[in-house]
Amino acid sequence: MICLPDDAAVAAVGDLGPDVDVIEWDGSGEPPPQFTDVEFWVPPYLAVLPDAATIARAGRLQVIQVLSAGVEPWLDRVPDGVTLCSGRGIHGSTTAELAVAGLLAVRRELPRFVDAQRAHEWEQQPRTGSLVEAPVLVLGAGDIGSRVATALRAFDAEVAVVARHARPGVHGMDELTELLPTQQALVVCVPNTPQTRGLVSAEVLAALPDGAIVVNVARGQIVDQDALLAELGARRLYAFVDVTDPEPLPADHPLWDAPNLLLTPHVGGGTIGWERRAYRLAGQQVRRWLNREQLHNVVDAGY
Ligand SMILES: NC(=O)c1ccc[n+]([C@@H]2O[C@H](COP(=O)([O-])OP(=O)(O)OC[C@H]3O[C@@H](n4cnc5c(N)ncnc54)[C@H](OP(=O)(O)O)[C@@H]3O)[C@@H](O)[C@H]2O)c1
Repeated sequence: MICLPDDAAVAAVGDLGPDVDVIEWDGSGEPPPQFTDVEFWVPPYLAVLPDAATIARAGRLQVIQVLSAGVEPWLDRVPDGVTLCSGRGIHGSTTAELAVAGLLAVRRELPRFVDAQRAHEWEQQPRTGSLVEAPVLVLGAGDIGSRVATALRAFDAEVAVVARHARPGVHGMDELTELLPTQQALVVCVPNTPQTRGLVSAEVLAALPDGAIVVNVARGQIVDQDALLAELGARRLYAFVDVTDPEPLPADHPLWDAPNLLLTPHVGGGTIGWERRAYRLAGQQVRRWLNREQLHNVVDAGY
């Protein structure tokens, strides 16, 4: 038995054949009684997650296919023996798009021009920076990081990519420290794991040169937010963040008023039309499972 989040998912996944029962649960309240027979579950995106005891009621569960790329809230809820699959690929292009949009907005000072437009002022000076010939370090070489790197190269930025495993075109983490002092921007695209929490530390930020831009579209916990606040407060660094710690950011949090900062409320992935990509992946994964093929996006290293 398959459990999908809503009518739209059922319609998008399409006919799975006469032998496959499909039920719906939007993740709120009590699961339907048939949940105990569910073997493949696609929970809704960004719902308040059911607790481990509720999930454990699905005693025949084999696969949980989530619709977010980040899986950290799920890790301690997945029953033993159940395969967790991430939504990697659903939100990568839109999140990479926002990373580049935010980086460009800060680099080309679009917030200043918005203010000038509102005041009807034709202010060409001072000149803005540009990404052309600018060294930019992309941290993460996965779905988002590789797309960001490709897009930035189209603007003639000098892109260096750092990830967990060194390989042609990708530096290993042991090279991060020596690369930082020459970068004009650092774009964070790694998952939230015990190894990456606080990875962009006060020391990493301090190693960036004056005027560098920090972009975080991954997770707030990866950047030392207090250290970033201090750098912004000193007007030494600039930042674009789509993710914060905590989320939602409380109305009285100092990050809202930090200078040199552009902030969006975790909207990298959730664009109009994301469901199309999400339910396409869900349908492909259900069919792989029914055909006993290898599932994609299996979470085996904490992400
Ligand atoms: N803002 C949003 O709306 C939004 C949307 C989607 C995703 N996200 C976040 O973005 C994250 C990345 O997504 P993705 O789809 O690009 O993930 P992905 O394809 O799995 O790529 C992850 C990358 O991070 C690298 N990495 C993992 N652990 C590392 C470590 N300890 N040190 C250095 N690099 C490490 C991996 O290195 P290797 O290549 O060497 O393995 C890989 O290049 C997600 O986990 C999610 O938290 C945010």
